[in-house]
Amino acid sequence: MLRLALLTCFATAHAYLWPSPMLDELESLLFEITPGTTGIASFIQPCDTFTFAPTGSRGSSGRSNAADWIRTAYHDMATHNIVDGTGGMDASIRFAEEQARAENVGDGFVNTLGVLAGSATRYVSVADALALGTVIAVEFCGGPQIPFRGGRVDATEPNLPGVPKPEQTLDSHVASFARQGFTQDEMIGLVACGHTFGGVQHAPFPDIVPELNDTNNSESVSHFDTTNTHFDNNIATEYISGTTQNPLVVGFNDTTNSDERIFGSDGNVTMLSFANSPELFASRCSELFARMLDTVPSGVQLSDVITPLPVKPFDLTFTLDGDVLQFSGRVRFWNLTDNPNRVALLLWDDHLGGVHNSTLLSSLEAVGSFPDGVSTSYIFGGDDFGGLSLDAAAGITTMRFMVDGKVEDQGGVGFAVQDAVVFSTTSCFFSNNRTAQYNVAVRVLCRLYMSQY
Ligand code: HEM
Repeated sequence: MLRLALLTCFATAHAYLWPSPMLDELESLLFEITPGTTGIASFIQPCDTFTFAPTGSRGSSGRSNAADWIRTAYHDMATHNIVDGTGGMDASIRFAEEQARAENVGDGFVNTLGVLAGSATRYVSVADALALGTVIAVEFCGGPQIPFRGGRVDATEPNLPGVPKPEQTLDSHVASFARQGFTQDEMIGLVACGHTFGGVQHAPFPDIVPELNDTNNSESVSHFDTTNTHFDNNIATEYISGTTQNPLVVGFNDTTNSDERIFGSDGNVTMLSFANSPELFASRCSELFARMLDTVPSGVQLSDVITPLPVKPFDLTFTLDGDVLQFSGRVRFWNLTDNPNRVALLLWDDHLGGVHNSTLLSSLEAVGSFPDGVSTSYIFGGDDFGGLSLDAAAGITTMRFMVDGKVEDQGGVGFAVQDAVVFSTTSCFFSNNRTAQYNVAVRVLCRLYMSQY
């Protein structure tokens, strides 16, 4: 509930119209999360999970998926050039040429893509999946909610180099962040927000971190703060109190102490404010992470901030059986209040001007409890709940729902349904030679014509 309550505060946040294949998928990935069991979050719950550890998937490697995911998103974005509009969150980090650069040393990028690219589909880009990874890692590991927009487009070739390295000067870091679109204040904030997770590993950075010879930290990671798998302002409190072990602040090689130079570059004003207020740190990180993830190549148009759809049809199927169109599906209601006497109806218009309003949704309901709300799903009614039997010629154009006497029709637009091309029950699969015959009917002026493939 927390994320939803805060997301609605963002001025531009409003639910999108269903159907939208991309936003429908992103909305589910973002909100239908059962921590530890399903979706992206299952890879970062608990937050010290590290899928690729040779010594077991938790704790003892010193690394975490969550930290890898956040660093990967930053390195993907950091090629952005605000002047010419090139680079940004576009998954160009997936190209071997980018990963081979000295600015992208380490296996965190391959590991991250190995997990998160699995959420990309024909509708969801790898870049959106990378951005989602950061949002979910931060939120599920103690951090603030980050308003999420969809629509990133995957690059087709590597971007120009441009990720800052620890041995560079403060001036070059200020210039690099300016090129990415961030002021000096924002640079301090974004580095502190990122470095509340993870640390520096010995293998890719032997000149910064020595071999630690610690079985509880088998990959010799020197962490940025004492709570490296959890979002909190300890990156700032430990820095301000002088107790920090951040290897980019108190490292033995002063040249690579980039966090020290960056954090101190405004006389510690920003870091002091973060140390004094965990709330300020969280809200500033929410804002800066969102800016980071929304930094995309020019010409890419992101969606509005995605919030849960109050009413969302899903699993819709049509099958033509002679003159009958079998129509099945389900509908999810978000945060529906309890009502033991609930009457829930599906209403629909057909191609011949008919309006149907008598089909009850089944009394079967499935309730899912998620961090941001509760979903209640109903299966469409019909013969043995297998689906509604519609006159094939009349078909269906638009659905509405009536719940507790209230019509849900997306502000009068309705829920448009596409029955122009439907499978026929005469389709079949030949197991002897592993071939299939698809019989498909195409609607032309209220008639369905059969084709065979
Ligand atoms: C001047 C800017 C920056 C420099 C020089 C820098 C440098 C580094 C270095 C050397 C590491 C160690 C990587 C490894 O051992 O695999 C690291 C880790 C990390 N960085 Fe940065 N960083 C900068 C900015 C950022 C920003 C802006 C973010 C995110 C908003 C970020 C997020 C992270 C995270 C999460 C890790 C931990 C990775 C892990 O433990 O697997 N960094 N950074």
